[in-house]
Amino acid sequence: MATNFCDLSGKVAVVTGGGTGLGRGMAMGLAQAGALVVVASRRQDVVDRAAAEIRAGGGRAEGAVLDVTRTKELPAFFEGVVKRHGALDILVNNAGTNRRNPCLEYTEKDWDTVMDLNLKSVFFCCQAAARIMKERGGGKIINTASLASTVTSMNQAAYAPSKGGVKLLTMHLALELAPYRINVNAIGPGWFRTPLNEDLFRDEGWARGVTSLIPWGRIGTPEDLAGTAVFLASRASDYLTGQVIYVDGGMLAGYKVPPVPKQEA
Ligand SMILES: NC(=O)c1ccc[n+]([C@@H]2O[C@H](COP(=O)([O-])OP(=O)(O)OC[C@H]3O[C@@H](n4cnc5c(N)ncnc54)[C@H](OP(=O)(O)O)[C@@H]3O)[C@@H](O)[C@H]2O)c1
Repeated sequence: MATNFCDLSGKVAVVTGGGTGLGRGMAMGLAQAGALVVVASRRQDVVDRAAAEIRAGGGRAEGAVLDVTRTKELPAFFEGVVKRHGALDILVNNAGTNRRNPCLEYTEKDWDTVMDLNLKSVFFCCQAAARIMKERGGGKIINTASLASTVTSMNQAAYAPSKGGVKLLTMHLALELAPYRINVNAIGPGWFRTPLNEDLFRDEGWARGVTSLIPWGRIGTPEDLAGTAVFLASRASDYLTGQVIYVDGGMLAGYKVPPVPKQEA
């Protein structure tokens, strides 16, 4: 007897920042697994294009304008999703940004921009969605962490703390929301070429350098996140909560050291 543990037919998902980069990859994956996906971000044309692409591929999607940093508007946004589509089963908190600057030059504006979007908005999106999911008997929340949730690199004075915060927030909410059967997990992507870091990857030397540190031998593509997003959104992961799954081609498994030679017998 075959069972499809990852079938998302009849489920309604919201993916913030779902119009570009990693969010787009996860939105596509959820739609391919059967979910109706609300692709949400600030730019109408971007979310509409991503939703149209999903529909062109036979999936169900709508684009919706949302600025997740306008926290007071979040409850009405998620209630609107329920009104239009009858449910809110899955939330992917993916919208995020970075300000790369040496710590001694970091401004308060840099700090607030990163923290407000990467951490504060994630909490308030979780809160608004979880209030609805609680009433509806459960749900799946997937946050977007990073390798920077657990290690850091240069010029990430706010980004790494924000993503470290996402990891702890994920663990914390998993604890408090477990009684309501709301799973809270996170995906920790490794290095992916997206609008967020396009300027870095345009430098071929830098791109070669980072690729050489990835055991899988290549940087990630947004599609590489689709399967993990579907797994965390589906009943296949019903007893899994409070975890970060790193999707990084093995990068976090090792550390920066020259290749260690084979030992002579
Ligand atoms: N790329 C990587 O290697 C990597 C690695 C680890 C983690 N991540 C994380 O992955 C997530 C997605 O990043 P990405 O690399 O895919 O970059 P991206 O393409 O720039 O995605 C960021 C998305 O967030 C949306 N967004 C920005 N501000 C928003 C706001 N106030 N309200 C709603 N949406 C907003 C943007 O759309 P609008 O401009 O239309 O609002 C955009 O679609 C981020 O959380 C990032 O930290 C990326």
